[in-house]
Amino acid sequence: MPLKDHPKSGKGQGDKIHCAQPMRIGESICWVKSCSSTNDLAKRLAEEGAEEGEVVVSEEQTKGRGRNGRKWLSIPRKGLYLSIVLRPATLRISLLPLVFGVAVKEALDKALDLHVSLKWPNDILWRGQKLGGILVESSLSGKTIHFVIVGIGLNINHEKEDFPGNLRREATSLKLITGQEIDKACLLQSLWESCRNWYRHFLEGKREKIIEEFQTSSAFPRGSGLDIETDAGPISGIFLGLDADGGLVLETSEGKKSFYSARIKNVRKK
Ligand code: BTN
Repeated sequence: MPLKDHPKSGKGQGDKIHCAQPMRIGESICWVKSCSSTNDLAKRLAEEGAEEGEVVVSEEQTKGRGRNGRKWLSIPRKGLYLSIVLRPATLRISLLPLVFGVAVKEALDKALDLHVSLKWPNDILWRGQKLGGILVESSLSGKTIHFVIVGIGLNINHEKEDFPGNLRREATSLKLITGQEIDKACLLQSLWESCRNWYRHFLEGKREKIIEEFQTSSAFPRGSGLDIETDAGPISGIFLGLDADGGLVLETSEGKKSFYSARIKNVRKK
């Protein structure tokens, strides 16, 4: 792993970097050709003292991962694979997948005039097909947050043949949608802006604004029937909305319940 290229690599845990102003997302980027997962590399940098806002971007990942232990297809140069180091002072980090989902949506709106939808909690969809996803991982002890890593994966210049097996049907890329090769550098500029914007709203406690924006772009409306998989097994219910921490609220046979780490298996539109 070419960590030596990174200006902060090799520094001990005690080497704190002092800045007059907190760094903004995307202001300092560690570019690598290959790594197991940008989330792993960002975690290493965070453990070495990387500041809030530091980003890792890789051309490929050899062990890219998605939510629930799934593999994330990370073909060299075809996709965008990046992770952001955050050090939020609030414990309400269950909102972060939504914050960055909304940010990716805004960036695609602005850069490409493309209006994607968001499937709770972390999917970026185009007409039901998967275009990208967010993976939030955190390092906590008790009520102390050491750091949070927000991983963002987007399918950019994939052709149909690049997707193996079921993914050929289930996934899509910006190139397949627009018919054009996408300039990643332009898209990244738009992404940094939107990430800063929505993360600032998060830090300012504008939870309602974030939830409202997410719900406006939701892949399914309130009143839809959902079948979800939880740690306690499958549950079905009617989607009532999202709570203030970004939890999925369902009317179930046992009453109204919020879920934070479930997976949506099936949606029955109302
Ligand atoms: C999902 O939809 O399940 C989340 C996918 C997240 C993929 C990104 S790619 C960059 C970062 N590194 C990883 O290993 N995963 C995330």
